[in-house]
Amino acid sequence: MKKNKSIILVCTSDQPKQAGEKGCLSKESREVLALFQQKKELEAEDESLIRVKESICMNNCANAICVRIFPGNSLYEHIQLSDVEELWESHIQKNQEVKHLLAPKINRFMGF
Ligand code: FES
Repeated sequence: MKKNKSIILVCTSDQPKQAGEKGCLSKESREVLALFQQKKELEAEDESLIRVKESICMNNCANAICVRIFPGNSLYEHIQLSDVEELWESHIQKNQEVKHLLAPKINRFMGF
């Protein structure tokens, strides 16, 4: 049974901090956000332990869509709708990072 609190932040910014980039909103990050919210409503054992929130720009716009998940302060990049299931099953349900979706270390601590 899951006991830890989790926070899922999905960048929905249309004001990218990185010049020349379009930002996560232009890549349909609201659909990713909505799918995480749906997973929470339908699959969470205790909805109060999971928060799904919109986020401002994570300063990693070139690698949109960006999603940050706590615990772990893990920054995921190039997220697509098809990745949400794996993130949910692994990071949220088992508290295990999805290594192949993680941003490189150099991107993880930038500006957010
Ligand atoms: S707009 Fe999403 S990381 Fe910048």
